[in-house]
Amino acid sequence: QRHLLGIEHLAPAEITAILDLADDYAALNRRADKHGDALRGLTQINMFFENSTRTQASFELAGKRLGADVMNMSMQTSSVKKGETLIDTAMTLNAMHPDLLVVRHPSSGAVDLLAQKVNCAVLNAGDGRHEHPTQALLDALTIRRAKGRLHRLNVAICGDIAHSRVARSNILLLNRMESRIRLIGPPTLMPAGVADLGCEVYGDMAEGLKDVDVVMMLRLQKERMDGGFIPSEREYYHRYGLDAEKLALAKPDAIVMHPGPMNRGVEIDGTLADDINRSVIQDQVEMGVAVRMAAMDLLARNLRDRRAA
Ligand code: CP
Repeated sequence: QRHLLGIEHLAPAEITAILDLADDYAALNRRADKHGDALRGLTQINMFFENSTRTQASFELAGKRLGADVMNMSMQTSSVKKGETLIDTAMTLNAMHPDLLVVRHPSSGAVDLLAQKVNCAVLNAGDGRHEHPTQALLDALTIRRAKGRLHRLNVAICGDIAHSRVARSNILLLNRMESRIRLIGPPTLMPAGVADLGCEVYGDMAEGLKDVDVVMMLRLQKERMDGGFIPSEREYYHRYGLDAEKLALAKPDAIVMHPGPMNRGVEIDGTLADDINRSVIQDQVEMGVAVRMAAMDLLARNLRDRRAA
């Protein structure tokens, strides 16, 4: 692949190759010396047009640990604030010969558009409601390490599915890797065409969580609700928030996941989120660095091959 724009473009063998390499990088990241040289001599620019903690920090660490020159563009102080367009900004940076461009943007499809205009490899760090491919890959790696496999697992994705690029990328990946997916949430927070996604759909947590292996919780993404229906947080927590009582319906060894940022007491009980016997939320963050190292390493190999040809 030339870019990493979405899980929709990845075959199962490509997903497995990224996860296998990320497993190696996860081991490297636990060593005292965490450095590799896969990106030495390359320039990585991170452009985040939307807020981020985990994704931006882990892409920066991933690039630095592999020897890239990493620049974080501060979009708040850039000429975007003077009216410069996304494409003009990208073309300006392209003229500085970056090798890897990591982009987060609030508009679905913006990263694909940008990738058509530049010469370097582009990685989608989340675009609108469309995709967040490295999040799905780090989630898959976390599940594979906890459960030993991805196929024939029952995975519940719960909450605001409609506005979630994390849910969309996870549905694509988990379907491709032959997991069985249940979507659980209020009908108002299910996406259009949910019946065609290849998932079982539940409106009730008690029914949907029965005997699942993995429970993935999602934040209410109010910033993408466009003035539509926003449920009351208290009522939402009562019906759809994950607590110990609801989790007891899943398998006894079911793991609890959340991509972050999380709203404690809205979609998940804070004590449960911190319970290291059930919650793998911190493992997800750890795997985020490893997956981004693997993704950039593989794109850099492709870039070098194309330049050598
Ligand atoms: N999961 C995720 O994308 O987190 P950030 O918004 O903090 O990057």
